Amino acid sequence: MNDQPSKNSNTTHVRIFDTTLRDGEQSPGATLNLEEKIEIARQLDAMGVDIIEGGFPITSVGDFESVKRMANELQRPVIAGLARCVPRDIDRAGEAIKGTTGNRIHVFCATSKIHREHKLRKAVDEIVKLSVQSVQQARQYTDDVEFSPEDGSRTELEVLVEITAAVIEAGATTINIPDTVGYAVPAEYGYIFKHVRQKLPIIDASGGKIVLSAHCHNDLGLAVANSLAAVENGARQVECTINGIGERAGNAALEEIVMAIRTRKDYFNRFDTAIQSKKIYPVSRMVSHLTGLAVQRNKAIVGENAFAHESGIHQDGMLKNARTYEIMDPREVGVPETKLVLGKHSGRHAFRERAATLGYTLDDATLDKAFEAFKALADKKKDVYDEDIEAILDQQLDSARQLWELVRFQVSSGTGLIATATVVLRDSSGEERTDAATGDGPIDAVYSAIGRITGVTVTLEDYQSRAVTGGKDAQGEATVQVRHHDRKVRGRGVSTDVIEAAARAYLAAINRIRTSEAKTVAATTMEQREGV
Ligand code: KIV
Ligand code: ZN
Repeated sequence: MNDQPSKNSNTTHVRIFDTTLRDGEQSPGATLNLEEKIEIARQLDAMGVDIIEGGFPITSVGDFESVKRMANELQRPVIAGLARCVPRDIDRAGEAIKGTTGNRIHVFCATSKIHREHKLRKAVDEIVKLSVQSVQQARQYTDDVEFSPEDGSRTELEVLVEITAAVIEAGATTINIPDTVGYAVPAEYGYIFKHVRQKLPIIDASGGKIVLSAHCHNDLGLAVANSLAAVENGARQVECTINGIGERAGNAALEEIVMAIRTRKDYFNRFDTAIQSKKIYPVSRMVSHLTGLAVQRNKAIVGENAFAHESGIHQDGMLKNARTYEIMDPREVGVPETKLVLGKHSGRHAFRERAATLGYTLDDATLDKAFEAFKALADKKKDVYDEDIEAILDQQLDSARQLWELVRFQVSSGTGLIATATVVLRDSSGEERTDAATGDGPIDAVYSAIGRITGVTVTLEDYQSRAVTGGKDAQGEATVQVRHHDRKVRGRGVSTDVIEAAARAYLAAINRIRTSEAKTVAATTMEQREGV
């Protein structure tokens, strides 16, 4: 068996391969800039993730730089860069980790019949040859090479075994079998791992030098169950993302896998991960606010309701013994004990502590500004909740990277009237610019005026508004998704005035378009063009 003892030598270590910054970032609208990626990677490192997939270096300068910086700056985790079985992809991933040791190139090639015939138009032997050559090329840069037969779970077992044997022979050290389209069910996916190990005894005999890995998508809501089935059948690496973000319905959620293994120690008693579970909640919040992807309320482990008890019977049971209705202690995953936190007498220190629990690392200047905004809010609002604090901090971080800042606006609208808005923005040189526009309602008018000032034309694809907390004095949060050419970008804004929140959200999206580098060549476009 390819088991490696974990720190607790009675158990087997399951490696956590986090792909939030690669597969996760492929969620529509979840663009992260370089600094944001580095910040998330630092927190993943602090949380104990074994491998961080930092990006797909050929797809953009930003992805290249993020893999490069992580490989150079983070010493403990292995940093992986993704590459297709295309020489220049592999060279680019190799360049990104050049001069560092122990980092990884992850190459993939589709192997299922449908992908072979319709996407690649290649026969099995051509795909095996291409994969072997690619692994050999990657090995020129590093000893740590992962190979993924894309759509592996829908690949004929004999083809999967043939290609796995060939790439191991060529030097691949991790074989990841992805359920790329989220089609597998647990018993079936688990069986694939068992079968591959039976046919290729070299894997178990390698003493952990060749590792099998699971990578599951959530199209049928089975990503975590499938990943756990793979672990039970010999996978010793699991690929996952924070909050389960990723293509379409997302990837397997890191926090769910880790807490299933930990909470059900009685069942998964052989296994352990190196994740410090108390960091889960802060990292989840951080990924949510930086990507703009909200966590669904009833999301396991990190959702707002994950530890909320509504029914009287449950509350009564909880008071008598929390374990009656709580299978995990919320503190184990870093969920703060109470949501009602600060008021106008709270100090700077308490504010900073709370910000850290919510996943924000602040420099002194940002902290000062955020604390000032908190005091101003606490004057208007008796109770300041976590959600209010997150809103303040997001706004401060957004304005720190703002090209355009909202100075003020004025709207006039009403029944039977044409809505008109006058907006004043400040650009990064400090100069104020004013323009006015009409629109189909006050928000549309404000958006048109912002478009006239910034010169950025986008299509508004989604607009949502909600109260951040309960009560008449609650702050309103607006989130928008806009399309700029072929990119979807999100923005979020908060204010006690809903139109101001909407204006801030729109401006945040426009600033994000301006500051983050465009993906120079989207991977999918390249695949269409090059047929790989
Ligand atoms: O889902 C998938 O097949 C992938 C591969 C690139 C590993 O993300
Ligand atoms: Zn994937």
